[in-house]
Amino acid sequence: MCGIFAYLNHLTPKTRKEVLDFLVNGLKRLEYRGYDSAGVAVDSADGNNMAIIKKSGKVQALEDEINSLASSLAFDTIMDCHVGIAHTRWATHGVPNAQNAHPQRSDTENTFCLVHNGIITNYKDIKLFLAKKGYTFESDTDTEIIAKLMLHIYKSHPQNTFQEIVEQCIQQLEGAFAVCFKSKLFPGECVASRRGSPLLVAIKTKTRLATDHIPILYGKDFRPHGGPATNETLTAASLMPRTPSTAEFQPMEEDKQVEYFFASDASAVIEHTNRVIFLEDDDVAAVKDGTLTIHRIRRNLDDPHAREITTIKMEIQQIMKGNYNSFMQKEIFEQPESVVNTMRGRMNFEGQSIILGGIKDYIPEIKRCRRLMLIACGTSYHSAVATRQLLEELTELPVMVELASDFLDRNTPVFRDDVCFFISQSGETADTLMALRYCKNRGALIVGVTNTVGSSICRESHCGVHINAGPEIGVASTKAYTSQFISLVMFGLVMSEDRISLQQRRKDIIQGLRQLEEQIREVLKLDSKVQELAKDLYKHKSLLIMGRGYNFATCLEGALKVKELTYMHSEGIMAGELKHGPLALVDETMPVIMIVTRDPVYNKCMNALQQVTAREGRPILICEKGDKETQEFASSILEVPHSVDCLQGILTVIPLQLLSYHIAVLRGCNVDCPRNLAKSVTVE
Ligand code: M6R
Repeated sequence: MCGIFAYLNHLTPKTRKEVLDFLVNGLKRLEYRGYDSAGVAVDSADGNNMAIIKKSGKVQALEDEINSLASSLAFDTIMDCHVGIAHTRWATHGVPNAQNAHPQRSDTENTFCLVHNGIITNYKDIKLFLAKKGYTFESDTDTEIIAKLMLHIYKSHPQNTFQEIVEQCIQQLEGAFAVCFKSKLFPGECVASRRGSPLLVAIKTKTRLATDHIPILYGKDFRPHGGPATNETLTAASLMPRTPSTAEFQPMEEDKQVEYFFASDASAVIEHTNRVIFLEDDDVAAVKDGTLTIHRIRRNLDDPHAREITTIKMEIQQIMKGNYNSFMQKEIFEQPESVVNTMRGRMNFEGQSIILGGIKDYIPEIKRCRRLMLIACGTSYHSAVATRQLLEELTELPVMVELASDFLDRNTPVFRDDVCFFISQSGETADTLMALRYCKNRGALIVGVTNTVGSSICRESHCGVHINAGPEIGVASTKAYTSQFISLVMFGLVMSEDRISLQQRRKDIIQGLRQLEEQIREVLKLDSKVQELAKDLYKHKSLLIMGRGYNFATCLEGALKVKELTYMHSEGIMAGELKHGPLALVDETMPVIMIVTRDPVYNKCMNALQQVTAREGRPILICEKGDKETQEFASSILEVPHSVDCLQGILTVIPLQLLSYHIAVLRGCNVDCPRNLAKSVTVE
């Protein structure tokens, strides 16, 4: 949902072209977050104003536009200190066009401009207020009101610093935002803040930083000895200038040359530096004269003194496509390694033991709980559906599986003795995060299952499991699904460690997990066969995917992949429900895929298969290798290796990932950036 990128170079000479390349490249890394328009703001060639360049469409269109302006932008001019901000948009308010693209500005003089990710829910009230004061608007966005509000606050309190104006401004905003500001009045300064949407600051110096943390400067409500914090709203008058303190990152003498990057996620900065600070809600990060400070308006009792500088362990290759045609294709083919990474350091295959370091101290509490709730959206939700049956078996607890949005709509009762799992690749999905906060407020234990270190869900959970799948950039989730699946299976194994009656079952599952890497490699060899099948299917309007039991989640997940990538209608159908309605869809023309494996519901699946073939359906079958009896009814077969029943879904989903990929390519769809979607859904 929109990508923010900003670059500040202090005493680090860069040509304007280099700065623009940094900005455009940063946007390309973030393009999966939204891609309907893009823009940048840099200092104008004469240095007295700003150049704001915006374009509808993908970042490439913006790059072409920038290159066409080479001479007016004075590409070769060297700038010692400079701030550039950039944005790639996923439209919420106003159609995707250049006018609505970001940066948005306060006035034609470009006094303040900003990039924003999120939604301002009270923008109408603020717009009305500003309109009454004589401000006029040029876009349909909620974001523009922030720029105008900045100007209004500045006009009322011209003595305030840039950071103080931002602090005052964000206090008036409701909703979710990550914002990054540039101002003509404050050259060389950049101020950013967040509430509900992710934002990090990355630091690059010539030598390693002497410090590992940036102390936080608190506003006037700061209670050094822990008195109660007030709810009083900060007024302009209450913003007293602060005495400079050690609470700043002042580069050491040799570090005076410093570069800062502000970004929605780490993939945009990793090629420059791996030293980042993940900002928290209501932090205001300001860079002035090359010095970074982090401010908060007020301090509560348990608020920390500092924000840590984290060294992120991402490799640049992980965010490059390499020899693959798309990130999605790369991520599908990475699964033999990503599943191993999920288990690495946790599964001891020889000793048959499992340690999940992030939750081990909470296991006794989890064992005493009343029920487990697995809450998520989209593919992450499907990983919960896929493992529910096994978790019920291994934990002997009731397991509820919930779509986060619906869970919130229902005001679902949650109790102190509930344990709530929040599963999210990005760790930033707004619905999931809202559901997390809802459950936390009701006293439940919160367990995060995420792929993104430092994400909001990570930070706000009591404990959690990092799925370690590596960065997933394709909008369609693939390797995260199989890693989430395995993480939940490992949790079930931990919970059943001391159940005598389950020992053989546990051994079989552990053995199954051990074989997965090789078995996934074997499934991936089906690629060319799947591509051939895609040629038969890609002109159809619809595709039904049927199965039951452990394979039902594969049907839901396969259908979601087909929908989001190919724009074809597709439905995952519980085979047991066929005769209650969906069978009416079946005839000789309707493409049907059925998943039939040798699990406890095999006979029931065979009934469903016969119901389909009796209506002249000629299903494509995903089944176990060598299962001739099942294959007799199929028009085509995709054979996967046999695994233990509860892990079979990891193998049956991969042919469907490949199929949706190939159909999308044949239909000319953009595989990594499906229309209307974005990778990280940070709006409700
Ligand atoms: O980041 P999350 O796992 O929380 O995202 C949840 C869904 O938005 C996501 O899985 C979505 O359904 C995928 N695009 C599906 O491929």
